[in-house]
Amino acid sequence: MKKAADDNIVRFENAGLRYGFGPEVLQDVTFALAEGSFHFLTGESGAGKSSLLKLLYLALKPTRGVVALFGRDVASLARPSLPALRRQVGVVFQEFRLLAHLSTFDNVALPLRIAGVRGSEVNRNVTELLAWVGLKDQMKARPSTLSGGQQQRVAIARAVIGRPKLLLADEPTGNVDDRMALRLMHLFEELNRLGTTVVIATHNVSLVERLGHGRLHLEGGRLTLGAPGGAGRPDKRPGAEDAAGSSGLGASAPGSPGRGATIDARGVEPAHPTAQAPVREWILKGVP
Ligand SMILES: Nc1ncnc2c1ncn2[C@@H]1O[C@H](COP(=O)(O)OP(=O)(O)OP(=O)(O)O)[C@@H](O)[C@H]1O
Ligand SMILES: [Mg+2]
Repeated sequence: MKKAADDNIVRFENAGLRYGFGPEVLQDVTFALAEGSFHFLTGESGAGKSSLLKLLYLALKPTRGVVALFGRDVASLARPSLPALRRQVGVVFQEFRLLAHLSTFDNVALPLRIAGVRGSEVNRNVTELLAWVGLKDQMKARPSTLSGGQQQRVAIARAVIGRPKLLLADEPTGNVDDRMALRLMHLFEELNRLGTTVVIATHNVSLVERLGHGRLHLEGGRLTLGAPGGAGRPDKRPGAEDAAGSSGLGASAPGSPGRGATIDARGVEPAHPTAQAPVREWILKGVP
């Protein structure tokens, strides 16, 4: 299969975002994500994590600069082409956004049904994934009757079930205990091993440090280098704190847009795409 000239799945160049006439909440954000990479997006509350994710799932367009998704500048996308592009992006929203009138099962089945997957396959995959995230007994429940952590797991299952090209998760483990958080992170890692590019916004520093992976860090709307120890690869020596270059993360150079300003965030393991695998084959692998 021929690769696009730009094999970064995401590219931001001096992107800025403001809401209405308010101040810029993202400023001069420049980075690229290689296909198959895995990154944590960190930063204090209000730093702009959810806003950056909104640009990534095309809920908003940047108010200046460039955001390109799958090699296409989002500013040039016509409205009718957005749904097809969005279907390649799985999103775990910070506030879940489950459909209140649908059961747990039907919420999770939705992306597969939209994609035209056969009923028997939908049933099998949804049942297996929900059992895996510990919601076997809640399949028929409506979201309003579930706990926060249960709703969060439904949201995660819905985002990953269709094996999207890009998975974005906004604080996806904020409502579950540490053990479940780790289990869910392994689910994201497994999806990543199959080729999905993953970006997870989180406050959970211990998980970030424990799992390694690339790191994008926002401070007051500006993207900075990963915090110490956070930008390395999982297979690196613990505590090896690289200069920006060798970690794959380069400093954003204000005032020099283009090459020098690019944070090339491909400091992560390559993807190992496999043929389309049924859910049970990927959710059960390598997970404690
Ligand atoms: N819809 C909106 N309208 C106006 N301002 C907004 C809107 N959403 C976010 N902001 C502002 O943008 C800034 C970044 O908010 P954002 O939600 O992206 O932060 P965050 O890093 O996700 O925070 P948290 O960790 O609390 O979720 C904040 O100053 C916030 O007030
Ligand atoms: Mg947020």
